[in-house]
Amino acid sequence: MAEFTRDEALAFIEAMRLTLTGKVGFKWLVEKLSGLSGYIESLSAENTRLNAYLDASGTRADYDAYDVRILEATASDLPDVLAVERAAFNEDSEAELVEALLNDPTAQPLLSLVARQGDIAVGHILFTAAQLKESPRDLSIALLAPLAIVPDAQRQGLGGQLIARGLELLAESGVDLVFVLGHPEYYPRHGFEPAGRLGLTAPYPIPEKDAGAWMVQELRPGILGTVSGTVAIADALDRPEYWRE
Ligand SMILES: CC(C)(COP(=O)(O)OP(=O)(O)OC[C@H]1O[C@@H](n2cnc3c(N)ncnc32)[C@H](O)[C@@H]1OP(=O)(O)O)[C@@H](O)C(=O)NCCC(=O)NCCS
Repeated sequence: MAEFTRDEALAFIEAMRLTLTGKVGFKWLVEKLSGLSGYIESLSAENTRLNAYLDASGTRADYDAYDVRILEATASDLPDVLAVERAAFNEDSEAELVEALLNDPTAQPLLSLVARQGDIAVGHILFTAAQLKESPRDLSIALLAPLAIVPDAQRQGLGGQLIARGLELLAESGVDLVFVLGHPEYYPRHGFEPAGRLGLTAPYPIPEKDAGAWMVQELRPGILGTVSGTVAIADALDRPEYWRE
């Protein structure tokens, strides 16, 4: 087994404390300590034994080390939501955009979801109202922007969970189409496809090389291909700088 320096030992104890108090998941701990492979192996074995014990004793059969709750954000969540945006993007502009959208009547109805691991807010997703100009049909449309996961919690599937829960709630509330401008390798994993080639144009022109970043998903089957036009978005998002990838 590897030997710890004093600083490593203190970092290890702090990481264990965070894990055992439910502030972070076991996967986070493993990643944090990935340099200490001997300890990780023993911890993994210990975790397996602990889960088996908990299941067998019937005390916490639903124990999940990655336990995440996704909730609709309320006014009291705002400081946490803005902190998540700042941490994920490492700048203030997305936090400012979120605050502006939450106060923008033209963004309504909106859906704002916060993901918490234990008490800690680790993710946020916002969907705001949009319209399809020139469409003869009365469609209910949402725009996904932004999606943010704090750096320590990235690549654990949280972004995907927030998207899935958001789409589920939007479908229940009768939304027909959801648009997003984002990573073209990421959103297709969650059901989005390029929108431009379907005749659904972004609010501001997207350069040809980034055309794949403007995407759509239908929540009511059979709509795509039957409607076309330009998407109009909430006033707070209606600025060209938000539409450059
Ligand atoms: C992009 C983001 C929302 C993804 O959330 P996440 O919870 O980390 O992602 P998931 O765990 O659901 O999915 C992970 C996969 O997404 C892909 N992915 C993550 N970030 C990506 C990025 N910036 N570009 C392309 N693909 C990305 C990876 O392929 C990753 O798979 P891998 O671990 O096998 O390599 C998150 O990393 C984030 O908040 N980043 C900073 C802010 C941002 O860019 N927001 C999106 C604006 S469109």
